[in-house]
Order: sequence, then structure tokens, then C-alpha cells
Amino acid sequence: MTCTADDACLSLQPPLLEVVDLAFTYVGQKQPTLKGVHLTLQAGELVALAGATGSGKSTLLNCLTGIAPEHTGGNLSGQVVYRGCEISHWSIRQRSQAMGVMLQNVETQLFTDQVWDEVVFGLENWNLPPGEIQALAQAALDEFNLAAQQTWRIGQLSAGQKQRLLLACLLTRHQEILILDEPFAYLDAAGVSLLLDLLQQRVRQGQAILLIEHRLELLRTLCDRAYRIDDGQISPWTLSEQKQAHPALKEADAMETSSPAHAFTARVESNLILQTHDLSWGGYPAFPDLRIHPQEVVLLKGDNGCGKTTLLKLLSGLLKPTTGQLDLLAHDVTRWSVVKIAPLVGFVLQNPNHQLFADSVQSEVMQPSVSPDQAEALLVQMNLKHCADKHPHALSQGQKRRLALAAVLARQPRICLLDEIMVGQDPTSLSLMLQTLKTFTDRGGTLIFTSHDPGVAKVLTPRVISLR
Ligand SMILES: Nc1ncnc2c1ncn2[C@@H]1O[C@H](COP(=O)(O)OP(=O)(O)OP(=O)(O)O)[C@@H](O)[C@H]1O
Ligand SMILES: [Mg+2]
Repeated sequence: MTCTADDACLSLQPPLLEVVDLAFTYVGQKQPTLKGVHLTLQAGELVALAGATGSGKSTLLNCLTGIAPEHTGGNLSGQVVYRGCEISHWSIRQRSQAMGVMLQNVETQLFTDQVWDEVVFGLENWNLPPGEIQALAQAALDEFNLAAQQTWRIGQLSAGQKQRLLLACLLTRHQEILILDEPFAYLDAAGVSLLLDLLQQRVRQGQAILLIEHRLELLRTLCDRAYRIDDGQISPWTLSEQKQAHPALKEADAMETSSPAHAFTARVESNLILQTHDLSWGGYPAFPDLRIHPQEVVLLKGDNGCGKTTLLKLLSGLLKPTTGQLDLLAHDVTRWSVVKIAPLVGFVLQNPNHQLFADSVQSEVMQPSVSPDQAEALLVQMNLKHCADKHPHALSQGQKRRLALAAVLARQPRICLLDEIMVGQDPTSLSLMLQTLKTFTDRGGTLIFTSHDPGVAKVLTPRVISLR
């Protein structure tokens, strides 16, 4: 049955959302990315959607919300049924009346340049009375602990704060269906627990939630059901299976007992590869002084917005400090250009889209100093060999993060800075990444990273430096 948005709102037939025999093929691809997808979502249930990186989760989200094929191109078949009505002909705007969506790359969904404007913008588009908008916007910012940043430019927010802002905007609107692509990715522990509580509340109030997340241990108490996508096909999946098969965590246990030499806190070398003194930026208080030895693994830990990314940018030379000094291998490099520091310090950014410039996966890694064998080995190590000819921006988000890491490691830096790059990896891909990093440090590399995932710290056994 084909109908309009108004017809659908009058109907009360379950399930709220149903997908029937959906298939999708990207432009230029011979094989479909999704095929024969059947899925249902009822009011008042939270359903998880899992699957390896690149398996098609975000593609399915795009098909449900109308982003595919309208914005991506490609060939879509099958039916998306909302309240008994086939809605394949509905625009993204029409679907947004029923579905609130949070995309995986937070930056693609922010439209204004100021925090308050962003929350108000979404509400204004819904034609709410101005008085109501003010109250709703204020409550949303309070709820996500962003009241103090209300007058900030969005560019000043950390990734976790941007994620909180997007969630604040989204949850004010109370659509019947919420579709969230890794909404926990950049949240600190307090943000994760706040969101878990809020989602629980929303489900009790009758909203239906489809949630893409790799760390299903976060969701065990929350989810009613789960699906898993493998090779473009979806099947029902029980969350307890995830518990038994979490290779990253298993590996962590094995490493903890088998390689005590990895506990770098016990090292005695006095030579330092990196040292900072009184480093500060932009009028904020100085960071704690760092004294880092070769081969050390250091975790910079702290809540959303505490300055982890800023510190990494200072260490890489991307930002110049307002006060203080940065020494690398006993040289004062505080005023060195980023280009001069780069051969020594590799930096994998939080958002891989800012770091991929070549026209194929292969050439992203095949840089001037890299032999074909080294490039091939890195692509195999990162499980990207099968994508070698693809354009880097046609990769899934998780695949892009692995490629950005491979491209930086290919240049063989002495120090590698990683900004939350382990988010959004399925257990097998996470193990591959962690194993590669372990090899890097075993061969003499020094690692300084940020991550909110306790599973990652368990494997890398870092020295923890807390930032406030
Ligand atoms: N624009 C595009 N053109 C061609 N192929 C694409 C395009 N976008 C995505 N793909 C491919 O489709 C497959 C599924 O990608 P998708 O982003 O849906 O994966 P995902 O399951 O969301 O992964 P992740 O967990 O990493 O986010 C991947 O192999 C990816 O390379
Ligand atoms: Mg995705």
C-alpha cells in the first residue's frame, strides 16, 4: 500500500517499521552491499544492529532514512514500510517526521556554527512556538551537560561534546523512531551512562530505537533483540553470543598473563623521547608536564572536552603553544614547523575523513618512502587488501580509521599519536589494530593515545596520564 505522511500518522498498525526484501548496490559496484534484508521494529523496543566494519550497517541506515539513494546514488529495491504504509517514495524530510537519525560522522550533521543556534535551529524547523523552543533548548543543553558551552562556537567543542550536542538536538524532537549510528563512540563514562539511562527512558515511553554499536556489552541490559549483518545479509542474533566471542578482550587476558615485559611503567631508561614543560594553549591552564621514554605506551585520559585532542595537536606541531616548551629527542622543537616534526611524529586524527587524500586505498599507503611489499603487508594486516582499488572515501567509517592508521605507520614515525581511533571497530578488526600497534611498540615505537574504551587499555597496558 502506498500512502502519504498524513495517512501513516492516522494508522496504528504494528510493527512500526518493517523492511521487506531490501537490496542496495552502490554506483560502480557489481555486487550488492545489502541483499534480502528483512527487519522489524516495534514501538517500545530497542533493537541492536551489529556486524563487522564494512558489512553494511550505515548503508542500511541510509536506506531507511532515504539518504540512499537520494544522496549516495545507487540502486535500491525492496520495501520500507512505516505503520503499514510503503514509504520508499517519501523524501528525507518526510521521513524525518517519523525518524530521528544520528549519523556516524558527527560533523556531517551539524549545520550552524554556534551551540545554542544548533539546538534552536532543529526546533525552529518544527515550527514550535518561540517560548517553547527556548525552554526545550535550555533543558536539552542542561541534560547533556553543555549549558556552560551554550555560547561557544561549534568548532571549539571536542568530538565527545559534538556528539552530546547532536544527541541533545535529536532527543528534543521525540520522533517515534530513533536510528543511532554508534552514538556512544566518543562519549566519556559519564556520557555513556547518561545516554544509557535516557534511551531506557525513551523506550519505556514507547519510542522504537535501532542502535548500531559494536560494544554490545554496553547494551546487554538495554536491548530487546539484535540483528547482525554478514556479507550484506541480515539475521537475528542473540546478545549472549557476543559475550562468548570477544577476541579483543580474550587477547587482552592472554597478553596480560603472557607478556609482563609490556608493563612499561616499570621501565628504567632515563633517556626521554618526548618531554614537555608548562605547555598551554589558548588561555587554558597548562597541561601536566610529560616525560615519555622510547617504546612507552601512554594513555591520555579525561572527560569530554578536557583537552586531549589539543594536547595531541601540540605534540604533533599542528598547534603552537601559547606557553611552554616541547622537546623531542632532547631538541627544543617548540617552534619547529609541523612538516619538520612529521617524520618523527605520526598523528592519526579522530576524524579519518580529514586525513585521507589519495584516490585509492593502495596509493594512500604507497607513499614515496614505502616499498610495495611494506604497503601490501600493511593492507593485509589491516584487512583492507580487498579494498585496495577503492576510493578511500567509499570505505566504511571503521575501514577509514584502519586506513588512516596504516598510512601513518607506513611512514615509520618514532612516535605515533592516536586520537580515539579504536572506536567503531568490530572485535576482529579491533584485535588487528591492537596487534599492529603492539608490533609498532615492540619494534621501538612510542605510542600516545586517547580512548574511552576500557577494553583497549586492557590490551595495550598503558601508563595512564589524567587530564582535567
Ligand atoms: N559511496 C560508496 N561507494 C561504494 N562503496 C561504498 C560506499 N559507501 C560505502 N561503501 C561500501 O559499502 C560497504 C558497507 O559500508 P558501510 O559504511 O555500510 O559499513 P558499516 O557496516 O557501517 O561499517 P562501520 O562499522 O565501519 O561503520 C563497505 O564495503 C564500503 O566500502
Ligand atoms: Mg557505519
